[in-house]
Amino acid sequence: MIELSQHPCQPFSLRLAHDLLSYYGSPLYVYQSEVLSHSISHITSSIPYNNTFFQFATVTNGNIELLKLFNSQGWGLHGNTPGDIYLGLKAGFSGDKIVYSGSNLNPEEMAQVLKWGVRTLNLDSLSQLDLLCNIYQSFSGDLSSLKLGLRINAPNLIKDSRIGVQPHEFSEAIKIAQTVGLKIQGLHFYRGTGTNATQAFTQVIDNIIQIGNLLPDWEYLDFGGGFGYPYRHDKVAFDWNKFGQELSHKLNQLSKPIQLIIEPGRAVIANCGILLAKVVSVKWQGKKQIIGVDTTVGNLSIPSVHGGYRKITTWQENPQSLCLTDVCGNTTYSRDYLGKNCQLPALKIDDIIGILDVGAYGYAMSSHFLHRPRPAEVLLEKGSHRLIRQREDYQVLIDNQILD
Ligand SMILES: Cc1ncc(COP(=O)(O)O)c(C=O)c1O
Repeated sequence: MIELSQHPCQPFSLRLAHDLLSYYGSPLYVYQSEVLSHSISHITSSIPYNNTFFQFATVTNGNIELLKLFNSQGWGLHGNTPGDIYLGLKAGFSGDKIVYSGSNLNPEEMAQVLKWGVRTLNLDSLSQLDLLCNIYQSFSGDLSSLKLGLRINAPNLIKDSRIGVQPHEFSEAIKIAQTVGLKIQGLHFYRGTGTNATQAFTQVIDNIIQIGNLLPDWEYLDFGGGFGYPYRHDKVAFDWNKFGQELSHKLNQLSKPIQLIIEPGRAVIANCGILLAKVVSVKWQGKKQIIGVDTTVGNLSIPSVHGGYRKITTWQENPQSLCLTDVCGNTTYSRDYLGKNCQLPALKIDDIIGILDVGAYGYAMSSHFLHRPRPAEVLLEKGSHRLIRQREDYQVLIDNQILD
């Protein structure tokens, strides 16, 4: 274990970035455990409603060491896919701590989810409900604690969503469940990803409750998902306290108490992750600085492929002047940008940059497109640091190929 010149609990600095890259190589995903713990505690304490369960949306980051942190702080997981659930089980969650709220499973996958012990499932269509009921009838394990919910599609609340069952289909859903002796006990609402306007959530609470009351056996409300994170640090941030107060207040007024499930993804994990990279090329086009770095859109696809902004820093205090800068990946793919029109100091070869807030949809969305192996992942924790995923090498590009 190397000695870091800076204690890893202190705010991130250029010295720390330098030490980590010297030890682990570049590029490198770095996660700060204390930052993640702080976000988990903040969200947990912002919802006073006393029957609340928090499920981390694994789709945003599937590193098992990070999932374990959620487990240790009393959260469960939200699974979008069987793969999310598999990772959760490997991280030590039992099936009953995982809520499945995905779509379009084939029969083998639906049965597998049940075999893994998942007992709360929010289904996306009547045909998925049909499938579940068929499997239920011939399933050999204990399904006495099974709870079924419907993902809701209400065009007046969420526009243009393919997900969910419309309220006018609820009576049909209830009938399908009844034929095998099951009930529809849950309602799942997903606002759509990355919404920073708190009002977009608070103003629909009454409508959601009204829709929930259409279910005679309503027992739980899963409110998503979709809570924003202020990637532009000077812009509006989702107000967890306001949301928590308003939602709790309304739920406390219900004549029949229900359970609340909250499943944040990016809102809880975005800010603990940084992608470190080194400058490998510098050129100027007029007054614009064109920086080439040793990472690529294959390692971090959000800024370029999905149009998301991620702040890039060099941690320099009081740089003399800032220049209009494009930060480009190490391929010639026309969209290989990590940042466009950034304001950065004049940089030179071997300088270090940090792409901030990449804890969500960062490594999880990386790929082998452009055939560059993926970076390593490192966790800073309790004054120390450790590798939590190996750096890939070129072997990974041929691993599953059949070579004659
Ligand atoms: C049902 C559900 N919940 C939660 C999430 C996490 O989303 P976000 O990162 O926007 O919170 C997703 C993302 O796909 C989702 O589909």
